Amino acid sequence: MNNSKPDIKHLFEPRSVAVVGASSNPDKIGFKILDNIISSGFTEHVYPINPKGGEILGCKVYPSMEDLPEAVDIATIVVPAKYTFDAIRDCAKNKTQFLSIITSGFSEIGNLKEERDMVRFSHENGMRILGPNIFGVYSCKHPINATFGPKEVERGHVALLTQSGALGIAMMGKTKAENIGLSAVVSIGNKADIDEADLLEYLIKDEDTKVILMYIEGIKHGQRLIRILKEATKLKPVVVIKSGRSKRGALAAASHTGSLAGADEIFSDVMKQCGVLRAESIDEGLNWCKFLSETSSPSGKNCVIVTNGGGIGVLAADACEKHNVNLMDDLQTMKEVFSPVVPDFGSVKNPIDITGQGTLEDYEKSLFEALKHKEIDSVICLGCQTAVLNAKGLKESVLKISEEYKGSKPIVYSYVGGEEIEDSIRYLRSKGISVFSDVYDAVGCLGALYFHYQNMITPREEIKELPMDRQTILGIVDRVKQDGRTFLLANEAQELMNAAGITIPQSKIATNLDDAVRFSEEIGYPVVMKIVSKDIIHKSDAGGVALDLENKDEVVDAYQAIMINARRYKADAKIQGVEISEMVKKGIETIIGARQDEAFGPIVMFGLGGIYVEVMKDVSFRASPIGKTQALSMVKNTKAYPLLLGVRGDEQKDIEGTLDVILRIGLILDICPSISDIEINPLVVYDEGQGVKAVDVRILLSK
Ligand code: COA
Repeated sequence: MNNSKPDIKHLFEPRSVAVVGASSNPDKIGFKILDNIISSGFTEHVYPINPKGGEILGCKVYPSMEDLPEAVDIATIVVPAKYTFDAIRDCAKNKTQFLSIITSGFSEIGNLKEERDMVRFSHENGMRILGPNIFGVYSCKHPINATFGPKEVERGHVALLTQSGALGIAMMGKTKAENIGLSAVVSIGNKADIDEADLLEYLIKDEDTKVILMYIEGIKHGQRLIRILKEATKLKPVVVIKSGRSKRGALAAASHTGSLAGADEIFSDVMKQCGVLRAESIDEGLNWCKFLSETSSPSGKNCVIVTNGGGIGVLAADACEKHNVNLMDDLQTMKEVFSPVVPDFGSVKNPIDITGQGTLEDYEKSLFEALKHKEIDSVICLGCQTAVLNAKGLKESVLKISEEYKGSKPIVYSYVGGEEIEDSIRYLRSKGISVFSDVYDAVGCLGALYFHYQNMITPREEIKELPMDRQTILGIVDRVKQDGRTFLLANEAQELMNAAGITIPQSKIATNLDDAVRFSEEIGYPVVMKIVSKDIIHKSDAGGVALDLENKDEVVDAYQAIMINARRYKADAKIQGVEISEMVKKGIETIIGARQDEAFGPIVMFGLGGIYVEVMKDVSFRASPIGKTQALSMVKNTKAYPLLLGVRGDEQKDIEGTLDVILRIGLILDICPSISDIEINPLVVYDEGQGVKAVDVRILLSK
């Protein structure tokens, strides 16, 4: 038994590698991997393994792992599934560190048990598994290409982690076509053992890797991934492409929070919270990676657009708004900088427009001024093909500029025109210059850079404990469990809110008519009356709710009507009494929820509440625990925010009180993981300083 874990460094920097199932048949994967390893110039020890022995591609073939002269760092296993476990046992005898299992036929086709057994056996023998169901691993370190992907890999600074095999191989090919250099490629397939988090641990410290690109289909161990992503994005950009925007998870969910929380929306918001850039498509992801791996960092947020066309300038300004790129608006400075170089008929307001009449010389002068000026932090350079500014001129000027200013500050280009312009774009891109025919692609790259920059410079938020009565919370939940229920009754949910320090409307449970009248008078009219019975969940349907009761007579009538309705609805229902509560004043109705997400653990949700929540879907999510700044960013991400700020002369609402409830509701799930869902809808928010009230609270326990 050897339970120690090998250092992940040796997966990227192996000193020796074996190919179990190496074949002399050039059509077999076992040949292609060996061929790629040798062709990549791996100078360390390579050991093909095949019972037939002999020689393949000039390497001596060993009949078994047991025959090797040393313990290897990586054994690439490429034998059919039925022989894989035997091959793993042989690797254990060799004291191999990492198994890169190419073979398919495990959990992806329902063969979970064998996959789990392989992982357990490997861990017991000090080995770790990459895969199975993968195409291998490439690292620029030695370099080594132990994949059956493309033979030629451009060496560079982007690390690619991919869950999809075929798409991963295709992306390797596309990076080569796009001139994007790779520092590492790891196919993770079924993620039976090694997952993204393990690999990120190495890549965030790896000096060759400047940008990390992940293609993800599903998340395992989400909380660990969140921790490492937060660390990673403080050091280098992480871009993610995720497939599967399915609503399946949402359909299975039990509460509003659940049905609003389409797995994909949660994924997007959690990635944003971690500082990860989510690309919508492979092209967008690769564009960002190329730009981010080549550009310098901005030193501030002032961006200037230089253009020879008004229309394209306006498009770029729109794109800046979409991608959160801040256009410099210091008119005085821009006038001082650009007036001497922009022709009189042009514009020195951002976008700086030399117009279609401007010459190449005007164009270059404006760009040079923008690149030189210390208050301008980034530049978007636009060009429309004209007779004055032709493709040749534009190409030459970009080359000149990038030669003189390469790396001094972030710059993206977008050129629009005919065939010659497209040729120039291709040529310039091959020289590592970020030129695009689409303005949104160009600005999107800058937006990605600013998102990352903002995340880097934002200090990490300290998460504070909030005073809560933990014992009472756990006690209530225990009682519910003992009662064999997976939902809390209204009074239990209110008791839990009280223990968590969340304000609820005043209420009391009356078990007879006299108490109902007395409590109504103590609380003050108007009041609301609701039946309390664990046998009646849908109170309104049962005629168990009466609103706006203004005096004693109305309370008496309502009490009697509710009792009769309840008996009629369910004759044997056990009735605990009626709840008398204050009739809540009007305010802004919000929804706050929390749930145990299958992938990420406790998640909190905020949005516009009321009866139309599911239609509006104006909600945002974060992985809990969060601090106040994150809670505020969550609120700001919804359309409810302007309402809370006060519209049409309305007072600002109690945003502080709202944030406090978001933090507390997340903490309840941390304190008590057996709560699966909490939903407050509505949480009524009053004017600033007047607080909030959790009017309706539903709490479910995991089944
Ligand atoms: N040790 C060493 N070599 C062994 C062996 C063992 N225990 N058992 C078999 N071999 C040899 C075979 O003799 C053969 O060599 P040969 O060509 O000299 O006869 C070689 O290993 C390969 O075995 P073979 O039975 O020919 O398998 P294969 O090459 O047709 O297929 C896989 C093997 C792993 C490629 C196949 O089972 C598979 O899983 N394919 C899917 C891979 C995939 O798509 N992965 C995901 C990508 S994203």
